[in-house]
Amino acid sequence: MLKTTNAGDLRAAHAGQTVTLAGWVHRRRDHGNLIFIDLRDRAGVAQVVFNPELAPDAHNDAQRLRSEWVVQIVGEVSLRPEGSRNDNLPTGEIEVFAKELKVLAESKTPPFYINEDAQVDELLRMQYRYLDLRRPVMRDYLLLRHRIVKFMRDYLDERDFAEIETPILIKSTPEGARDYVVPSRVYPGKFYALPQSPQQLKQLLMVSGFERYFQIARCFRDEDLRADRQPEFTQLDLEMSFVDREDILALMEDLHVSLVKTLAPHLTVRTPIPRISHAESMAKYGTDRPDIRFEMHLADLTNVLSGTGFRVFQSVIASKGVIKAIAAPGMGDGTRRQADDLVTLARNFGAQGLVTIALKSTASSVETLTGDDVQSSAGKGLALEEIQSIARTVGANPGDLILIAAGPANTVHTVLGQLRAHLGHKLELVDPNELALVFIIDFPLFQWNEDENRWDAVHHPFTAPKDEHIGLLETDPGAVHANAYDIAANGMELAGGSIRIHRRDLQERVFKVLGYSAEQAQDRFGQLLEAFEYGAPPHGGFAGGIERITMMLSKGAQSIRDVMAFPKTQAGVDPLFGAPDVVEDKHLKELHIKIVEE
Ligand code: AMO
Repeated sequence: MLKTTNAGDLRAAHAGQTVTLAGWVHRRRDHGNLIFIDLRDRAGVAQVVFNPELAPDAHNDAQRLRSEWVVQIVGEVSLRPEGSRNDNLPTGEIEVFAKELKVLAESKTPPFYINEDAQVDELLRMQYRYLDLRRPVMRDYLLLRHRIVKFMRDYLDERDFAEIETPILIKSTPEGARDYVVPSRVYPGKFYALPQSPQQLKQLLMVSGFERYFQIARCFRDEDLRADRQPEFTQLDLEMSFVDREDILALMEDLHVSLVKTLAPHLTVRTPIPRISHAESMAKYGTDRPDIRFEMHLADLTNVLSGTGFRVFQSVIASKGVIKAIAAPGMGDGTRRQADDLVTLARNFGAQGLVTIALKSTASSVETLTGDDVQSSAGKGLALEEIQSIARTVGANPGDLILIAAGPANTVHTVLGQLRAHLGHKLELVDPNELALVFIIDFPLFQWNEDENRWDAVHHPFTAPKDEHIGLLETDPGAVHANAYDIAANGMELAGGSIRIHRRDLQERVFKVLGYSAEQAQDRFGQLLEAFEYGAPPHGGFAGGIERITMMLSKGAQSIRDVMAFPKTQAGVDPLFGAPDVVEDKHLKELHIKIVEE
């Protein structure tokens, strides 16, 4: 090794030792006679001093040093004098007096500071990702990710799970996104699909008798990207045989809680993890991944306003829509402008509009409100008595701002759910040091796809219906509940899973509801259907996003890109390698592919 010790590992106990260090010049400061550098390696940063009296050659060479040069230093560790210790630095009690200096590599001036946490354009960071990853904060994210995955592997190994790899070149296994496909050279016109998850493969491993499987599995999904979605990401994927829902929920709970307690002790978790039905989650929070750190529940005003004279609400009620509201505490005395900004935000979330009612804190109670204490975007459209019953129903007090959305239930839930999440942060109602894990259970099995006029699987087509709802499959698909569950935290879905169908006849019935003909089902899923005829054990499992959990357990990661070594941009581009890219004509020919210019 070109080093005897890591610079970042040096402590007071090393004082008096001669060490050889190697790393990067994090910072250089000239103090008249003395030159100081902060030497950085993976373990951290230590201060090195060049003194012309102790080592004239090294001191002379140190004058050339610039940020990010790679150097090797032989020196003596010494306790810093009283008063110049740095309590913020793990190595802050010592410094190293250099005796020898060797430059191992010089560096151009980097396109952004590595030794400062300045805001840097993310595209530039991704273009120079190898430099971005030198920043201590990024290093810490990736090392945390490593420890999380290691924890998972050890945890599952101790519980008899076997890690088994499954192929990347397969046939479509759907999770609701588009497939990435890979053309076959040998079979003209045929394609492999990259797995959206190893779902069918892990089920087949249960048929094989492995009973407890897991994999740190790469998944590929061609879908719209967001801060918490990448085209290529990693799951902890897991499957078990001879279990029911409670067995899996217990494992998910213990794994997640142990993970947080071990690797993110700065976060608090509530146990047991609360469970909320999908219906309740939608009704109260407007989303199936609620942030339960604060209340601000959605209140249903449809009944209270059934006899309203306000035209907008009348027409929504007539068309079987819903009217719901939330109350933003303390915003009632804000400016008109603040309320208008929320209306604009609601429109961005897909609302036609948003009715705001500001209850001024001039009133002493909702009961004694007068017209002067109220400012509403509905003008005189709502009577004072109506406003009072609205306030009682949402639990609003003088000083609060009521936000009302009306329309189809889906839209209303999306809009109020997102406004609620926005306000939770803006009004600082969330504790940043709490990880509020919550199970969402009893999902519907199907959802109606308006655009394509058919039923879609809410989870994926292999999820088992609740036993008591199997009879409804053909008669009332919308009422069938799935034996599925998600775990969410602070407004983000972390993991999801289900008990699976393990009988061919039931799987065929579900495919039928989903609109697959017998031939189509056989063509796409024949491998699974046939396997179910050779003694498939009852089984179930889940998968969780490694990037999402790492981001949640980190101190400060803003998107899952921050916890990936080489992520793609929001537009699906890799700016470092420049992917996607064209391929040579010769290559296309071999693949029997012709590009059609639009
Ligand atoms: P699901 O599709 O819910 O389930 O995915 C499981 C978890 O994977 C993460 N995730 C993503 N992370 C980053 N980018 C994405 N594009 C992305 N999509 C999903 C989320 C999510 O909770 N086979 C089933 C699991 C099962 O039934 O066992 C599945 O993949 O954290």
